[in-house]
Amino acid sequence: MTDILDRPGAENKPWFLSGNYGPVFNEATAHNLPVTGAIPSALSGLYVRNGSNPHDGTAGHWFFGDGMVHGVRIEGGQAKWYRNRYVQTTKLAQNLDAMDPVAMFDPTASAANTHVIGHAGRIWALEEGHLPYELSPELETLGCDDFGGKLTTAFTAHPKLCPETNELHFFGYGAVAPFVTYHVLDKNGKLVHSAPITTPKGTMMHDFMITRDHAIFMDLPVVFDLDNAAKGGSPIGWDDNYGARIGILPRMGTNADIRWFDVNPCYVFHPLNAYVSGDEVICDVGRHETMWRGSMENGSPSYMHRWRFNMVTGAVHEEQMDDVAHAFPRVDDRVVGLKHRFGYVASPRDTTKGGLSDPSTIVKYDMSNGSKAIHDLGPAAFPGEFVFVQDTATGAEDDGWVMGFVYDKTTDSSDLVILDAKDMSKPPVARVHLPQRVPFGFHGSWIDDSIML
Ligand SMILES: [Fe+2]
Repeated sequence: MTDILDRPGAENKPWFLSGNYGPVFNEATAHNLPVTGAIPSALSGLYVRNGSNPHDGTAGHWFFGDGMVHGVRIEGGQAKWYRNRYVQTTKLAQNLDAMDPVAMFDPTASAANTHVIGHAGRIWALEEGHLPYELSPELETLGCDDFGGKLTTAFTAHPKLCPETNELHFFGYGAVAPFVTYHVLDKNGKLVHSAPITTPKGTMMHDFMITRDHAIFMDLPVVFDLDNAAKGGSPIGWDDNYGARIGILPRMGTNADIRWFDVNPCYVFHPLNAYVSGDEVICDVGRHETMWRGSMENGSPSYMHRWRFNMVTGAVHEEQMDDVAHAFPRVDDRVVGLKHRFGYVASPRDTTKGGLSDPSTIVKYDMSNGSKAIHDLGPAAFPGEFVFVQDTATGAEDDGWVMGFVYDKTTDSSDLVILDAKDMSKPPVARVHLPQRVPFGFHGSWIDDSIML
């Protein structure tokens, strides 16, 4: 995975435990944080991001450490507080390794380290192999959630919230049948739809997509191999014989309604977005040529790629949209499942290296013409995922800000950096200086106060 996110490491440790990948052990609370610049007064909510933070300093893989959320409360032009908290899971309480069969098959033994989202007045920490954990607005763990006993599968770390219906579309996958199950929470957070989806094997489905009309599943050749695991090998990896296909079914549909399209073998951790255009379903995704072939440390970089699926003729068209690698693609939450113009990613400042070495820039793609606007954070700065936050509900797609944590190697410190999404060339609108470094992590959300009402 080092060629996906090649950040500064150190000493005789795995890269994912070194440098700013290494965990922090202090659960801090700090109020009225120092700010350089001016936080937009329109912002009122919580920026929170999850990541892998092994409590004992060790883990077998970057993905396996215990979840720790880092949040900054913003209100009235001020950064009211910073908190970082472990998600208090049974995995953490029982000191379980993520590959321990007890942890793998106990639905509450989540690492809870991958994403954190808000929906229907609630906040959940997510990891794709287990049930969600609910957090308070102050990031304390409230408990594991199975939606009144109705959710009997895992809950993906990448649900999709429809901006038009406020339904949360999601799925669960696992090593044993049903390998994939499609679910929907209604606008009140009630589980209203569950439908098993048939795939040939247990397939590592990290993310998925919706359009206004569809749910879209990626059945790609990183699959479970429990026979290999029984022999002491990896339980999951690339399978040259599996093929690759994209399943598109109507929202709230079942397996009987799904239509599968073959694509060239690849892996996609993260799509940018999908939408309907005429007879076609358009999917913009971060496509890896291979992933986990022979080892969970092997992979190739992710490049912006467009799939077009013609729902009338069955034709599939594939096109690489950029030759610079990226990570953490995001759109404005108001266009999830709808036609997007803009996308935001982290990319390298030295584009000649081919992979994603030294990602020090936040890039705004304009998918209408293929152009890019780049904010260069400097040679010592290392951003993670940046999320878009709207100014007003009715403003233009890029009328707002993008924000995320940035680590400064020279000072061994982290800021929450807020950029003007309309003009990425400008200096940051604001930098919130945090009381401790934030280790490189995974995904986060802007949880607007309107979500928590
Ligand atoms: Fe992810």
